[in-house]
Amino acid sequence: MKIMEIEGGKDLTGTIRISGAKNATVALIPAAILTDEEVTICNVPEITDTDSLCDILKELNVDYKRASESIVINPEKMKNVEIGEIFSKKLRASYYFMGALLGKYKKVVMYFPGGCSIGARPIDLHLKGFEALGAKVTSEGNKYTVEAEELKGANIYLDIASVGATINIMLAAVRAKGKTIIDNAAKEPEIVNVATFLNNMGAKISGAGTSTIKIQGVDHLGKCFHEVIPDRIEAGTYVIIGSLCGNPLKIDNIIPEHIDALLSKLEEAGVSLEVGADYVIVQKQEKYRSTSIKTAVYPGFATDLQQPFTVLQTQMTGKSKTTETIWENRFMHVPYLKDLGADIMVKNQTATIAGPTKLKGCEVVATDLRAGAAMVAAGLKAEGKTTITSVEHILRGYEQIVEKLTNVGAKITIKEI
Ligand code: UD1
Repeated sequence: MKIMEIEGGKDLTGTIRISGAKNATVALIPAAILTDEEVTICNVPEITDTDSLCDILKELNVDYKRASESIVINPEKMKNVEIGEIFSKKLRASYYFMGALLGKYKKVVMYFPGGCSIGARPIDLHLKGFEALGAKVTSEGNKYTVEAEELKGANIYLDIASVGATINIMLAAVRAKGKTIIDNAAKEPEIVNVATFLNNMGAKISGAGTSTIKIQGVDHLGKCFHEVIPDRIEAGTYVIIGSLCGNPLKIDNIIPEHIDALLSKLEEAGVSLEVGADYVIVQKQEKYRSTSIKTAVYPGFATDLQQPFTVLQTQMTGKSKTTETIWENRFMHVPYLKDLGADIMVKNQTATIAGPTKLKGCEVVATDLRAGAAMVAAGLKAEGKTTITSVEHILRGYEQIVEKLTNVGAKITIKEI
């Protein structure tokens, strides 16, 4: 078991370089099997979610080579075998192999995906999308078989603008016969990144990044070279950390417009920001104004930044509110923030945070990936030592977090116990 120890209360000065986006990478790797030719993806983050997807590639007999920040995938000798539950439950994004295998072989057998316990996380919209394309879905407990004689383009309206369902339907539809239209599609930048990748392979997708995506099916996808976009959630997490401890902290290699909603809220709170073409410099201030947020689909305030933001709200003067609209169970970090000294009350889907409060280090748990990021942010601000357990959740999504923070002056280590 790994634990993280942080000696908090230190100013952080210097530059943190942001890695490739986890949520794009986890779709791009499964998408790569849609061809039989070699695909190179660069700016791939070294996180355990990437490792877990490579384990699935191995199961499918797909050749791949990983080098620093890149992966070369060659599915020439691939076999469409059942993906065991042990692999699918390691991460949510294992479900992208459903769309990709269905698209390529018209059949996939795999289990319900795992991932952070932040809500029920059903996959009904993905399955309905596959059915609309002509597939038959059968399930036996957790095990799903999705198969079709032929996939045919269809008009699909998503009841919820789901990121996962949008990408999965795109993966299944790129090699279907005819035209698919996804309405009320999600608009997240990761979707645009995946659509660009597929188009580079020869797909015909238009409208990614808007709520209507059109996919004209093609027979063949070929080789390509592709770059993962910078991780907007990692970027946002470090900008929030900079607002707490930066003196000053530069967050580099980012696309600032991807975190516009966060930057506006930080400005409202009184954080000092310099926003450049591909960076943000953040300088902490003595006092912040109370600022409320409500999570929403992109370009709204990202739910994945909600938990780290609540840490900053503990340093604001007066009452701030955070309302979570995407996930039912995303306040699991709150009891631990309270242990650290925060004054927070949660009612229904809204947390009310009274501040400013002094945070004091103690033992806390990373209950999920972004709750873990919140614990790191709080530990860096708190006086004294914070020990975080279940660190594995954090390592699923933050590349070299210890090294990146140590380089800017944090006292942070991970120990195996
Ligand atoms: C992705 C992100 C996750 C982020 C989330 C929302 C990845 C790997 N993960 O998750 O970090 O928090 O987007 O921005 O990219 N829903 C259904 N039925 C479905 C699918 C979704 O009811 O079939 C609901 C979910 O329960 C949730 C909402 O739709 O309430 C949004 O979920 P979705 O956008 O699909 O999230 P993920 O793709 O799982």
